Amino acid sequence: MKVLVTRPIPEPAVERLRAEPATETRMLEEGAALDRAALLDAASEADVIVALLTERMDAELFDRASSLRMVANMAVGFDNVDIAAAEARGIWVTNTPGVLDGATADLALALLLAAARRLPEAERFLRAGRYRRWGPMLLTGQEVHGRTLGILGMGRIGEAVARRAGLGFGMEILYWDERERPDLERELGARRTDLDGLLGAADFVSIHLPLTEGTTGLIGADELARMKPTAVLVNTARGPIVDEEALAAALRSGVIWAAGLDVFEREPEIHPDLLDLDNAVLLPHIASASIPTRLAMAQLAVDNVLALHRGEDPPTPVVRGASRR
Ligand code: GLV
Repeated sequence: MKVLVTRPIPEPAVERLRAEPATETRMLEEGAALDRAALLDAASEADVIVALLTERMDAELFDRASSLRMVANMAVGFDNVDIAAAEARGIWVTNTPGVLDGATADLALALLLAAARRLPEAERFLRAGRYRRWGPMLLTGQEVHGRTLGILGMGRIGEAVARRAGLGFGMEILYWDERERPDLERELGARRTDLDGLLGAADFVSIHLPLTEGTTGLIGADELARMKPTAVLVNTARGPIVDEEALAAALRSGVIWAAGLDVFEREPEIHPDLLDLDNAVLLPHIASASIPTRLAMAQLAVDNVLALHRGEDPPTPVVRGASRR
C-alpha cells in the first residue's frame, strides 16, 4: 500500500506508517503540496493520502489518483474534501474527531478572554512604551464571569466550551443546534434558542459549527446587527461562516464590541480591515495546536490508514468506502 503524507506531521505517527509491513510511505516536504501540479502528480501513485486542511481533495485529484482508497484527513473538519466525489468513487474519508475538543475549547476561551479584556491591545500598548502611569479607566473591557455565552453548534467542541464557561466562569449558556441537549440543560442549565434569540441575548457568541452550504455566511451584517453593542464574537470553527467584510465594518462602527478569530474566509489571507482594528484579536488557525493534541490527531489519522491496510474497520469514518476499489 502506497501512502502519501502531504506535509510533515508529528514524527511518531509517521514512524508507525513506515514500520507497517507491505507499505511504502512518502511524505512531501513542507510547502510542496501548495504546488497543485506536484500534489496531483504525487497523488497519482497513492493508495492512501494523509491530508491536511490546506489541501483540496476533489474530483480532479481523485481522477488522477486512480488507485486511491482513502483520504485520512488530519483535522476534524473535512470541508477541504469533496465528500460527494469521494462517495461516488468508493473512497474512504476519515477525520480526527474527539482528540482535539479540549485544546480547541481551551483556545476558544483564551480568545474570548483576550478579546473581552483587550489583552493583545494592552500588550501592544505596554511594549510600545506607553504604560507611564496606572489609570482607573486604562484598557477597561467587558466582564466575562456570570455573563451569557451563546454557542452556535453544540457538538463535542461546543460542549467542551460550554462546560468550561458554565462551570469555571459561571456563565449562562444558550445554544443553537438542531439537536436538543437535555444532558447539558440539566448539568449546566443550558437553554436551546433560535438563532435570533441567541444573538440578541448573548454577551459572547462562540461558533462551533462545521462549514457546509447551510452555514456559509451564516453570520452577516443582519446577524451582527442583532447582537449587543457590547458583544464579543469568537470563531474557532471555519472562517467562511462569518462574512468578514461585514464583521470588519461592525467592529469598526461599534455594532459589536470585539471579535476573537482563529479562522478566516480566505486563509492565510486576512481581510486588511481586520488587521487595522484593535478590537479584533487574530490568530493563525492554532486552536488544536498543542503538542499532545497535534500528535493525537496524527496518530488517529494513521490509525485509520493502518485499519484499512489490515482489513479492519477505520475508527473514524466520514465516508465509508468500498472494500476494494
Ligand atoms: C482544524 O481546523 C480541524 O478541523 O481539525
